[in-house]
Amino acid sequence: MTRILVLGANGQLARNTIPFFLRQDDVQLTLYLRRAQRLANPDPARVRIVEGDVLDRTKLEAAMQGQDVVYANLAGAMAQQARVIVDAMQATGLKRLIFISSMGIYGEVPGETYRSVLDPYRDSAAVIEASDLDYTILRPGWFTHDQAIRYQLTQKGEAFRGHDVSLNSLSDLIVKLARSPQLEVRRSLGVSEA
Ligand SMILES: NC(=O)c1ccc[n+]([C@@H]2O[C@H](COP(=O)([O-])OP(=O)(O)OC[C@H]3O[C@@H](n4cnc5c(N)ncnc54)[C@H](OP(=O)(O)O)[C@@H]3O)[C@@H](O)[C@H]2O)c1
Repeated sequence: MTRILVLGANGQLARNTIPFFLRQDDVQLTLYLRRAQRLANPDPARVRIVEGDVLDRTKLEAAMQGQDVVYANLAGAMAQQARVIVDAMQATGLKRLIFISSMGIYGEVPGETYRSVLDPYRDSAAVIEASDLDYTILRPGWFTHDQAIRYQLTQKGEAFRGHDVSLNSLSDLIVKLARSPQLEVRRSLGVSEA
């Protein structure tokens, strides 16, 4: 059984990924979000919904109890969020973190200059990379609703290839990472359509 805590569970990519997780028989989900009444429970036997803000460390640590993997699908004050997540994971003894960021945080997109709108993404990645967690940071291109699962990865230090990536490709990759404790550990991956 893999127990996965989804932070920011009402986000677009998180909502796309939840059914991908539930296609796996041996997965249990805890969906953590603000204003929880927005989300219907898709499978009460295997899914628990917890209302909370990621910046509420007490509540976050309570939700982390007994989990195997944290999948963070957040926006906004991401550097502060990353700090709280890392501290809470260390306090609760969790190691595996999948954290959704954005392409461009290292100025790695050919032809595009770094933009300050990416500061929260860059700064949150730096917090996670400085931790001792088994993290995988994903730096996706622009999301599309293309049904196809077809993606390529680039490592940190490599130029980003492509521009877009389907939500389904990202969901497929997130499930693989969540179920593979050793896959792409301590890596920051660009993800784009192949
Ligand atoms: N769209 C694209 O093409 C694209 C491309 C590359 C990267 N990205 C990035 O990838 C990430 C995921 O994308 P997405 O479309 O799923 O984003 P999204 O729909 O904006 O979801 C982000 C979620 O984070 C939650 N959140 C923010 N602060 C929180 C807090 N303090 N505590 C708990 N939850 C909090 C929000 O909750 P509330 O609903 O309560 O506000 C929201 O549901 C985003 O950072 C996005 O910018 C997007």
